[in-house]
Amino acid sequence: PTTADSTGEDFLRCLAASGVPSKLVVTQDSPSFTSTLTSSVRNPRFLEPGTVRPLCIVTPTNSSHVQDAVVCGRRHNIRIRVRSGGHDYEGLSYRSVRPEAFAVFDLAALRAVRVDRVAATAWVDSGATVGELYYVVAKADPELAFPAGLCPTIGIGGHFSGGGIGMMMRKYGLSSDNVLDATVVDANGRLLDKKAMGEDLFWAIRGGGGESFGIVLSWKVMLVAVPRTVTVSLIVKSMEQGAVDLVTKWQTLVPVLPDELTIRVFVQDKQARFQTLYLGTCDKLLPLMSSQFPELGMTRADCQKMSWVQSMLYLNGGTGSTPLEDLLNKTTSLTSFSKYKSDYVNQAISKASWEKIFPWFDGADAGLIILEPQGGRVGSIGDDDTPYPHRAGVLYNIQYISFWPTNATAAVPDWIRNVYGFMEPFVSCNPRAAYVNYRDLDLGENEVTAGGVTSYESGRVWGEKYFGVANFRRLALTKGMVDPGDYFRNEQSVPPLVTSN
Ligand code: FDA
Repeated sequence: PTTADSTGEDFLRCLAASGVPSKLVVTQDSPSFTSTLTSSVRNPRFLEPGTVRPLCIVTPTNSSHVQDAVVCGRRHNIRIRVRSGGHDYEGLSYRSVRPEAFAVFDLAALRAVRVDRVAATAWVDSGATVGELYYVVAKADPELAFPAGLCPTIGIGGHFSGGGIGMMMRKYGLSSDNVLDATVVDANGRLLDKKAMGEDLFWAIRGGGGESFGIVLSWKVMLVAVPRTVTVSLIVKSMEQGAVDLVTKWQTLVPVLPDELTIRVFVQDKQARFQTLYLGTCDKLLPLMSSQFPELGMTRADCQKMSWVQSMLYLNGGTGSTPLEDLLNKTTSLTSFSKYKSDYVNQAISKASWEKIFPWFDGADAGLIILEPQGGRVGSIGDDDTPYPHRAGVLYNIQYISFWPTNATAAVPDWIRNVYGFMEPFVSCNPRAAYVNYRDLDLGENEVTAGGVTSYESGRVWGEKYFGVANFRRLALTKGMVDPGDYFRNEQSVPPLVTSN
């Protein structure tokens, strides 16, 4: 254990001596500390008094600042937590659960997006948001896009390194399935590209969670083709209108529909909301729906035609005329606390069980679930081709969401853990799988051994749920090669596994 520099003064001196400009370093006594800390926080639970905060926040403007910081951090025993978009569901990019001297490296200023239209590729910096990527790509060519999540303020750094589920994953896979190259600052402060980092590290950062292996500064991605106009729709059905039957059928139907079509479902207020994105015209969608899913009753009046980039705003609660510039808006609201959990479903849940599940989504404390269908490309990539193991045979992902107002206590209401407990018989088991980007500390937290590194056994408890047994072991072996001293760590970072053979 190393607490020699718990005030961080030597670390700060080292940063200054390395040439990191002092204006990029905001310490706790600075008047702008709170505003800098909260700038990309999404969940005010982790701003509550008593939260373990960083000694300082550094906002690097070039890669050498990051390299210098790693060298200084290791020399003076100050850990670094990296923040790209700040959307971590447990706030691990900017707070520590246990007392610890750490600095936050906030990459918000490293946010360039450079599109090569002819090659259909882009280099995107980790500090950019998903919305910025969508906007810049669509401006360069409206028939190019990228498969990633819907909320425009999600940061590229965390999102890509944990996977990236989105409405085009059935057609094109996860965000991380479309990464061609990346640059990473490793635990020795070296800046490495794909060739220099080697196969295992390049494998690990594409879905194994970013925080464990280094600081990913930028990503080269393959852009994907989309038609000039796409079709979206939203159909809401109550239980009286047959929501239970529809969700029951949806489970096995949607994963085998053409990959151009995704229908995700929100279950809330005892209703099911079916949100559709079709990479094609209403004229083609309607016959498909009436032959495959007539019960949903989709008609021409349900079809909205718009550009793909506009559909990203529409599907995130906007309209067909929301200005595209809203994709660049990074302001976030801090008016509610939240807690999230996740599951994967491999076998359709029976109608009788859905009848019992729906009533959970009723009443003041109830939240919602989002069901995201898999199949298509996301399901056809091998379980161990990337760290994301939830591939063939997975029907859909469930995300559980609970929101409650900030004038109440920050303690997590019972509802979300109770409904998660109730769902156990219906979802994947041995282990009960979860998605690393829907981070959930209820799954387990690391323990640090007397040797000062995270124990592999404590990591397995949560890690095999996110990555499966074999992938978690490969991640830990990779960690053992690139960061055996466990410099980059948090409560759910991959522990280093070093074997003699
Ligand atoms: P943040 O900066 O908080 O980082 C998350 C983790 O990654 C931290 O451990 C951090 O240290 C590490 N990290 C960040 N940048 C790094 C870097 N450059 N190098 C190394 N490590 C780095 N997910 C999804 O798949 N599909 C979706 O549709 C959504 N939707 C969604 C909506 C909303 C409102 C929220 C709050 C979250 C989502 N998510 C999501 C989850 C999201 O993908 C997940 O929280 C990402 O990790 C967020 O990435 P950020 O960079 O914003 O997070």
